[in-house]
Amino acid sequence: MQTIKVELERNSYEVRVGAGILPRAGAWLRDLGYSGKAVIITDTTVKGLYADVLSGGLARAGFSGGILEIPPGEGLKTLEIAGGLYERLTDAYVERTTPVIALGGGVIGDIAGFVAATYLRGVPLVQVPTTLLAQVDSSVGGKTAVDHGLLKNMIGAFYQPRLVIADVDTLKTLPADELSNGMAEVVKHAAILDAGLFHYLEKNIAEIMARDAGVLEEIVARNVRIKAGVVAQDERETGLRAVLNFGHTVGHAVEAVSGFTLKHGQAVAIGMAAEAEISRRVGKLNDDAVSRLKNLLVEAGLPVSVLDIDIEAVVSAMRHDKKVTAGHVRFVLLDAIGEAYVTDAVSPSLVREVLSGHG
Ligand SMILES: NC(=O)c1ccc[n+]([C@@H]2O[C@H](COP(=O)([O-])OP(=O)(O)OC[C@H]3O[C@@H](n4cnc5c(N)ncnc54)[C@H](O)[C@@H]3O)[C@@H](O)[C@H]2O)c1
Ligand SMILES: [Zn+2]
Repeated sequence: MQTIKVELERNSYEVRVGAGILPRAGAWLRDLGYSGKAVIITDTTVKGLYADVLSGGLARAGFSGGILEIPPGEGLKTLEIAGGLYERLTDAYVERTTPVIALGGGVIGDIAGFVAATYLRGVPLVQVPTTLLAQVDSSVGGKTAVDHGLLKNMIGAFYQPRLVIADVDTLKTLPADELSNGMAEVVKHAAILDAGLFHYLEKNIAEIMARDAGVLEEIVARNVRIKAGVVAQDERETGLRAVLNFGHTVGHAVEAVSGFTLKHGQAVAIGMAAEAEISRRVGKLNDDAVSRLKNLLVEAGLPVSVLDIDIEAVVSAMRHDKKVTAGHVRFVLLDAIGEAYVTDAVSPSLVREVLSGHG
């Protein structure tokens, strides 16, 4: 097992990463000073797979409490579903000191995190991420959110968990496309901040895709260290944390224009390939680095280009992204693998050229 500390002034916490650690959650919660009740929020799929192991460990540590389940799917990360959860927390007599445990992927982490942040003005939150994306990205950093109509992730709160438990054995049951989806953020972290990790990924991509527990523990831990480092320096996303948006300027736009038929990771992979190409055309990234990035994405089961997409709609969607400040579209570009910088000096015509594969 590896332990990573997320250093924040008043809100520090540990992320524990390992194989087969789920049953230990109860004892760890007791060590943190909790007792009595603990409530699990999960989705139907994950409940069937892992709720028994988790609640067994909780019971052995003397906890009682229920399991609140919602159907899986991004479409249900809504205020309405959150409202239902508040009612069920009331029915379960959840108090200010009762930990809420988010067991599942990023959807569960976001909505259960949002509910924990707001119910009784905040109850303790424990993240137990079960997708690669949630283990390397969404469970660390304290962003919680629900969607509301067209406002995706725009109703939310910064709310840090008390503990994150990432059991890489849970990734064995993850569908292949979900593993690839998480790999997009893994490749992103390496590409912006860690050339050593990038090399490790290139060497071990087959083991990762075959879900070798030792290799998965290593990549999850290394990714958490990267994300934790960025978050510790910029908890509320005012500066440095922006580099985490590599691939996301084009990616978010492509995702929206596809009508969300592309998964987030697929759209970000297309976005990273495009933004790497933009980095090359502005004279920063060399040819070899662009090919290495694309090859790694392909080996991780991700797309690097998009055939039938309305390029004008993508350019227009980029201008309407929530991260646009003072009318400038902000890009994260690469100087080299492992070195990123932020700029708003990318012309729409260059984006058009790169997306259409011309120029
Ligand atoms: N808060 C943040 O900083 C942050 C960052 C990135 C993404 N997100 C959010 O994360 C969400 C996406 O998360 P996700 O990709 O984990 O998707 P998800 O939570 O929808 O999970 C994907 C699917 O996998 C299933 N699943 C989960 N764990 C499983 C397991 N171990 N075995 C088998 N099936 C399993 C789920 O039931 C679901 O059907 C989005 O809502 C996105 O906005 C948040
Ligand atoms: Zn992302």
